[in-house]
Amino acid sequence: MSLHNSPDKEYIALLEKYEPVRIVFGDGAFAQLGTELMLDRSASACFVFGGRSTAQKSGVYQDFINTISSFDLEAPSVSDIPPEPDTDDVRRIVEVLKDASPAAVIAVGGGSVMDAAKAAYLSWQTGMDVTELFGVDVASKKFPDRAFKRVFCIPTTSGTGSEVTPYANIVDREKGVKCLIMEKQIVPAVSFVEPAFTCSMPADLTATTALDAMVHSIESFLNTRTTGADPASDEWAQESVRLIRYALPKVLKDPDDLLSREMLSAAATLGGMCIATRPTSLPHLCSFSLYGRIAHGYAVAGFLPLFWRYYLKEEAVRAQTMRLAGIFPSAEKQSTPEDVVDAVEAFIRTCAKPLELNAELIEKIASDALANPMKLSSAPRPVPPDDAARIIRAVLSGESVP
Ligand SMILES: [Fe+2]
Repeated sequence: MSLHNSPDKEYIALLEKYEPVRIVFGDGAFAQLGTELMLDRSASACFVFGGRSTAQKSGVYQDFINTISSFDLEAPSVSDIPPEPDTDDVRRIVEVLKDASPAAVIAVGGGSVMDAAKAAYLSWQTGMDVTELFGVDVASKKFPDRAFKRVFCIPTTSGTGSEVTPYANIVDREKGVKCLIMEKQIVPAVSFVEPAFTCSMPADLTATTALDAMVHSIESFLNTRTTGADPASDEWAQESVRLIRYALPKVLKDPDDLLSREMLSAAATLGGMCIATRPTSLPHLCSFSLYGRIAHGYAVAGFLPLFWRYYLKEEAVRAQTMRLAGIFPSAEKQSTPEDVVDAVEAFIRTCAKPLELNAELIEKIASDALANPMKLSSAPRPVPPDDAARIIRAVLSGESVP
């Protein structure tokens, strides 16, 4: 692929070939929703929306709203799902589903809306409270012979990749902590990715969501210790990283550059495909401690080079790193993995808000990380849980860990 000169659209083939989710991608994708609902005989469909989003400023989004207004849906919509949805938000959707018994649920929004709708649809069908779904494949284990209906997604940002993942992040309101549902039964059925919806995203949101997607792809790409990953995932990750490196600076200069917006949308969905098969590691783990202090994408982008250098003691990581050489321009010839990480870090500095860590915050991150020993020991270079606090403190202080 020669993105530096004439972008081609290999990403479309990668998205269309993806089997776990049918991805309808590109200009006019949402227009196919009506056909899909008819095929599914889903005259009663429940739409789940976020609060007032930037997508609503887009004329294409208004066309979409006009289109769905013409459907005879026979079910009420749920709106105002906030960022970082909690268990009560999910239960609010479940109540509507109980009353209306719709034949389809369609999430329209960013990752928060998609996550809440995914959790609620499974909660309603299983009769399990959302808190009982926290964990790994809980519903699949409880109902091994049942296949539950899955949501349709229409993402309006380009970052989380929730439109293709088996994950839903929900804040447990009673306990005040963010919890994860990881469940194959919530992988969306069909995702309609309409890049034009993202054109009205402001620069800051564009940058942080694109960086989140880039870090998904890189963390997944480096996570070579995961077994059973889809063999195509390396290609998805490399394509996603190339697209973001090429398109993000262009969109930050010209927010209406639709081809570059399309590339960022494709990159985000590819990033979601990557983490669905091979998950993130320590940068994402540490970002949880910074919730509410800095946008998620900036947090993970700030952590990435620090942990990547820690991972470079592993030969497998060094080899993967060299496969990204040359994607990010730099004055130096990228002949070592350390040069590649430097080039990625230089790129991140051009478009991210810096991560400002102090001693108190480093302590908090180091102690929070201990709550997730599985993520520590499955990292590309494992962190022994009994030495984790010391290692994380050293990595975050920029020290090399022998
Ligand atoms: Fe993320």
